[in-house]
Amino acid sequence: MPSLAAQLGQRLSDALGVDPELRPATKPQFGHYQSNVALRLGPERGVAPRQMAQLIIDQVDLSDLCQPPDIAGPGFINLRLRDDVLASQVRRLLADPRGGLPQTEQPLKVVIDYSAPNVAKPMHVGNLRSTIIGDCLARVLRGVGHQVVAQNHIGDWGTQFGMLVEQILDEGIDATGLTLDSSVELYKRAQAHFRADDDFADRARRRVVALQSGDGATRAIWQALIDVSKAGFNRAYRRLGVLLTDADLAGESIYNDALAGVAADLERAGIAVPDAGALVVFVEGDQTPLIVRKSDGGYGYAATDLAAIRHRVCDLGAGRLIYVVGAPQAHHFQQLFAVARRAGWLPPAVPAEHVAFGSVLGPDGKMFKTRDGRAVTLDSLLDAAEEQTAPAIAMAAVKYADLSNSLHKDYVFDVDRMVATTGDTGPYLQYAHARANQILRRAAAEGDLVDDAQALAPELSEPAERTLALLLSRFGDTVAEVADQLQPHRLCGYLYDLATALSAFYEQCPVLKASGRTRASRLVLCRATQKVLAQGLDLLGIVAPERM
Ligand code: ARG
Repeated sequence: MPSLAAQLGQRLSDALGVDPELRPATKPQFGHYQSNVALRLGPERGVAPRQMAQLIIDQVDLSDLCQPPDIAGPGFINLRLRDDVLASQVRRLLADPRGGLPQTEQPLKVVIDYSAPNVAKPMHVGNLRSTIIGDCLARVLRGVGHQVVAQNHIGDWGTQFGMLVEQILDEGIDATGLTLDSSVELYKRAQAHFRADDDFADRARRRVVALQSGDGATRAIWQALIDVSKAGFNRAYRRLGVLLTDADLAGESIYNDALAGVAADLERAGIAVPDAGALVVFVEGDQTPLIVRKSDGGYGYAATDLAAIRHRVCDLGAGRLIYVVGAPQAHHFQQLFAVARRAGWLPPAVPAEHVAFGSVLGPDGKMFKTRDGRAVTLDSLLDAAEEQTAPAIAMAAVKYADLSNSLHKDYVFDVDRMVATTGDTGPYLQYAHARANQILRRAAAEGDLVDDAQALAPELSEPAERTLALLLSRFGDTVAEVADQLQPHRLCGYLYDLATALSAFYEQCPVLKASGRTRASRLVLCRATQKVLAQGLDLLGIVAPERM
């Protein structure tokens, strides 16, 4: 069932033969939806815009959906949905077994690359943001009917492993006894050793060769390092309540055997060319080339990512590629997509999108550091939030802060603001949900249960009731838009508006104190709002406790 906005839009565009540019009204006095198309169409067809607007509303019959349209100002068409139409939409939403989630007409296999922490390194804030944003996008895309394949491109390969393995052998430690923390310490010692000792550096380089050629003992230690880190990542995923599992792991190392082929194919196609001993691709309009093979013969981050694109499109059958990675890597992905397109590994029909996000800043506006001046780890962030409030609420606070701003913007990590139950915060939404629950629980205790499948169409006599119903009718479109544009803050903004409308509704429209049809009808509005809040929070990856 298309949304009310979609039905209005369709009706208008059928009649006009052009996009009616229908938008939600900017102010309540302009109705529910407005179209400014007459301002464009009038001059084009030699008619004054206001007259054009009149011609349009005379021509299109919207009376089964709207009250008689208004023409405002220079020729804006203001549309106001009929109360009975909004009310039956609320009833339909409640009866919908999918909870109002729209279904895409074009289900795709969507590969999302997110989280991607590095072995033997602490999860940094970038990995945290990627995990939270990627989890939300995965939920939304799955929710609207796409098949989502998560690819956790962990950093489990590279020259640093030569030095790590060599350090383990030097120290004579048992790698299986390490933890993520102790392997991070080991990393630091190995780095210092590498810088200070030429002989060690040589051995570390030879160890890289042994690792790449599959030497058993070397591989065993490398594998132990990965297992230790994986256990640490999984602990973080559990703490965050994200959906990632070991089945989603597709680290850099799995592409190792494909790298020589990637380079050879690119060279044969004349796309990659030798340059000072390296093999590179010059991308149009770009100063620095993409390095496929380094002059020492090694392959790096870019070659691995090319192999990964080929795998995702050609083997996994992806119809859309999404990369949730910090903004500093924008240039890398631009080059990568351009090269993959030229190589034919990324057909024109498969969109590839870098969902770039900004940094987390401290209260001083600089990169966030812990009190003792160290870079912030995932755990320290979560700990800071949990110092203030219960874990489920702390998590909502952190996730919502991450999702509710435009992704590309940096944001300030302000725990006090984030955990507040007032304002545009995760806990506020949880609270609104719990409050609706409480009313429904009390009514149920008095014998008034809302039966979702058989609910009555609520009467909408108060403005606050109408606003709530109008917002409820926009849930599906909002989710569809996030699935399309990959901007979780749109869903956050929607849910915040809904929660705010709910609290205005309580204030203006007593529920439990009302009786008869008014009470039944308000309970339906409560229930529909509670369901949409729960559903929406779930799409954000935030739990909605029944009580708070
Ligand atoms: N491991 C990288 C980092 O921590 C992120 C990898 C992102 N994914 C990719 N396919 N390059 O910065």
